[in-house]
Amino acid sequence: PVRCVLTRSVVLVGMMGCGKTAVGTALAERLGVPFRDTDEALVAAARMSIAEIFERDGEAFFRARETEVLQRLLTLEPGVLSTGGGAFLRPENRAAIAEAGVSVWLRADEPLLWSRVKHKTTRPLLQTDNPRRTLGELLAAREPAYGQATLVVDANPDYAIDDMVTEVVEV
Ligand code: S3P
Repeated sequence: PVRCVLTRSVVLVGMMGCGKTAVGTALAERLGVPFRDTDEALVAAARMSIAEIFERDGEAFFRARETEVLQRLLTLEPGVLSTGGGAFLRPENRAAIAEAGVSVWLRADEPLLWSRVKHKTTRPLLQTDNPRRTLGELLAAREPAYGQATLVVDANPDYAIDDMVTEVVEV
């Protein structure tokens, strides 16, 4: 493990399927700091799955709770924080992240993202007639926001998690 003191949180952002949870878990372990996840914290607080929250209360409600959870997690001792794919789109959230941490976009192209999410049914935004097209549209619409991250790490071609962790640690 790397011996270091983390003075700011490392916040992973990017599309569903880009590897935030996998890379975040490994990165936190390498750095010896806590790993946190906005989706996980939200689900624990709401005692409902993401899909249930979307279905019952709608996306606007989910986004409001997501912002609250993000702000709360950013007040904790620095660690690695994985965010839901939509979190970095809100200017308010980007500002909160910039204040407390360093943002890292795990950039992956559409075929790689699709290969990771196509068999999952846990993402309400992809429950459409043509989920692949939806994924592509979301990616295109979101890239300008993700591109505002401090560090952009390429997740293509299908990376080894350890290599991406090394990339982040070295910077
Ligand atoms: C979302 C991504 C999901 C989850 C919710 C909305 C999005 O998180 O927050 O389904 O808007 O891209 P992951 O990026 O962890 O899949």
